[in-house]
Amino acid sequence: MSKQPIGIFDSGVGGTSIWKEIHALMPYEHSIYLADSKNAPYGPKGKKAITELSIKNTEYLIEQGCKIIVVACNTATTNAIDYLRANYPVPFIGIEPAIKPAALQTQTHAVGILATEGTLSSELFHKTSLLFAKNITVLEQTGDGIVELIETGQLHSEEMKTLLKLYLQPMIDANIDYLVLGCTHYPYLIPILIDLLPKHLKIIDSGQAVAKQTKSVLEQHALLNASTTTPNIKFFTNGNPQIMQSLIPEKFKVETLDF
Ligand code: SIN
Repeated sequence: MSKQPIGIFDSGVGGTSIWKEIHALMPYEHSIYLADSKNAPYGPKGKKAITELSIKNTEYLIEQGCKIIVVACNTATTNAIDYLRANYPVPFIGIEPAIKPAALQTQTHAVGILATEGTLSSELFHKTSLLFAKNITVLEQTGDGIVELIETGQLHSEEMKTLLKLYLQPMIDANIDYLVLGCTHYPYLIPILIDLLPKHLKIIDSGQAVAKQTKSVLEQHALLNASTTTPNIKFFTNGNPQIMQSLIPEKFKVETLDF
């Protein structure tokens, strides 16, 4: 049984959507969240740069004594998790776009995926797509500009709505019935998406599945915290703390850190 924290990192604030699911499922676990907003977005960067940034984040979390690391970023997962698993002595949980449940449930045989360029062009995404979505049409769309708007506090801007309409219309025209959110920043778009999309269209993100997987891996390694005292939860960013603060419960205070 371990009182060490769960480490979570993302290219920025988006992974707080994953932290929320983890905290809801395991409210007594200590955690440290690291937002590399200074280097966001990771999406257009190449595999080498994404891996180097993921190493930097991982090493910081390991120095803090984290018992498990959740790579709360689809782009970092699809490009760097194999390297991280091979080189560091803690379990890693990654986030892959939920293509499988969408492919299994679609009635129109067409699903849409919105993700970053780095995720959609990765080998891991191609393998998953080939494996689970071979008999259906997958409409892939890069969400260029979305992460930048969220990272600069423009989640609810007109510019965001214009971008989303542009990206989603071809999917709507192709009669998709499932939209997979393949970036941990995108769950924050759900209220806007609900307004923009036809009512029958379902949105899938990976947050709850990732939280369950994190719990299950902690159990397998006998690393769950047995204590029921108030956990120590820390949020660090190398970017604008106010933007992250607006996305997490007020009782937790975001600290700036130069990493
Ligand atoms: C990005 O930094 O471009 C997005 C992060 C993600 O893929 O979840």
